Amino acid sequence: MVYLMEKFYITTAIDYPNSVPHLGHAYEKVCADVLARWHRSLGKEVFFLTGTDEHGQKIQKAAESAGMKPKEFVDSQAKHFKELCSKWNISFNRFIRTTDADHEKFCSELFQKVFDKKEIFLGEYEGLYCIKCETFYMEKDLIEGKCPVHELPPELVKEKSYFFKMSKYQKQWLKLIESNPEFISPANKKQEIINRVKEGLRDLSVSRTSFDWGIKVPFDSSHVIYVWFDALLNYLSGVNSDSKQFNKFWPADIHLIGKDILWHHSVIFPCMLFAAGINPPKKVFVHGFINTESGEKMSKSKGTVINPMQLAEEFSVDALRYYLIREIPFGQDGFFSREKLINRINTELANDLGNLVSRVLAMNEKFNSGIVPEAKPDEELIKKLDLNKIKSQMEALDLTHTLESVMAFVIEANKYVNEKEPWKLSGKELDKVMYSLLDSLRIIAILINAFMPESSEKITLQLGLKKTGVLNEAKFGLLKKGMKTTKGEILFQKIKEE
Ligand code: MSP
Repeated sequence: MVYLMEKFYITTAIDYPNSVPHLGHAYEKVCADVLARWHRSLGKEVFFLTGTDEHGQKIQKAAESAGMKPKEFVDSQAKHFKELCSKWNISFNRFIRTTDADHEKFCSELFQKVFDKKEIFLGEYEGLYCIKCETFYMEKDLIEGKCPVHELPPELVKEKSYFFKMSKYQKQWLKLIESNPEFISPANKKQEIINRVKEGLRDLSVSRTSFDWGIKVPFDSSHVIYVWFDALLNYLSGVNSDSKQFNKFWPADIHLIGKDILWHHSVIFPCMLFAAGINPPKKVFVHGFINTESGEKMSKSKGTVINPMQLAEEFSVDALRYYLIREIPFGQDGFFSREKLINRINTELANDLGNLVSRVLAMNEKFNSGIVPEAKPDEELIKKLDLNKIKSQMEALDLTHTLESVMAFVIEANKYVNEKEPWKLSGKELDKVMYSLLDSLRIIAILINAFMPESSEKITLQLGLKKTGVLNEAKFGLLKKGMKTTKGEILFQKIKEE
């Protein structure tokens, strides 16, 4: 019998490395990482792709300002994004750079293929272009003459350009949405895109001649491929080491992105794929934006950009990951607040989780010389864990409430300690309570693993186990008697409020 492992392919947007990463970049990667780790724990074969979007006019300009050649510039900048991943425990399977040779080859070949199918033609573009979002705008899209995302006036561009016949795909796109109503999530983002598509699709300019930092159009070297046409293809080239890998992972299960690039992902990308004869992805999920404490967009010029590397020097990465997921309802905008972060660290992480772990392990040392006793788990505690609810919340991509439900069990386990008062018990009664609590710690380590991998591992090791279990093992009765537990370092230090 051939056993086929279920796959899960998740991607983040690839970041523009014109500057160093900000907290929004970290947030997106953390959310994707949580999903990737969760699905691994479900026993699936996961591919998690992230990376950098390195071509285009914006990068060329940034390189010029830095007095560097574009390639030299992106090489030095991409490092910051890799460091971010490493510091924040982002478990990607590949970090793709659009200057990677295999991506450039893939992109160039696909452009040729679409051209050969007569889906790309030469014309002249005259219109408005916002270099910050590398996007063409119509007069009607602007707000008071400015780009709706960056609030800056776009440039007037007039140049020869190859066009992709996107206009012919309106019907096919509407059919896609009809047959896969969850293609765009959350649902509130969907209608706005459908309305826009219903107004009609225009052909898309897919090459530029006024600068040269990009992948050359294979049949006309005076043009470079439009940076979005290039960038979106990373999701395909990223899993194309060979056709076996491609067929296993494509179509992607989730493209996780921010709201400013929904049009590119939910409309331009599927239309490109229609033209190339490739299946569209299964879902585009739009997470919210992280704004400054005063609710404004982070801005370099105003000096309000929050640097995730600096934050990770000051706070534990697990605590930051916890805070971002728990605080900002997944799919909605939120803002970063030090005060709220510290508050959650002190109450939920140090008091609730940290304290549960340390008191249970201390009691086991005191009452059982650190040996897991033999007993049946207590039904009273078993019924406090609603694993089905937790699993279905995650299935619905409700990261925030999944974590809330996991932490609700931590609170229940603490209550159980307070109510049972193990220090007053002895014999079989004590064994039952202690076994139930130690087994709860094992289960909690499994459930928090995707969110806080380091703390999960610490708990696992303190229980004398070598590896955190998988989600199937998040049920009572699996902790073996006789294991030696140790009271290790404290999980989360309390932080003095400023
Ligand atoms: N390079 C393009 C994406 C190409 S994907 C084929 C791009 N890069 S970006 O660096 O500007 O943004 C990368 C991701 O970060 C996007 O999903 C974007 O929406 C997200 N965010 C940018 N600012 C953000 C916040 N303030 N908060 C949360 N996410 C934010 O767009």
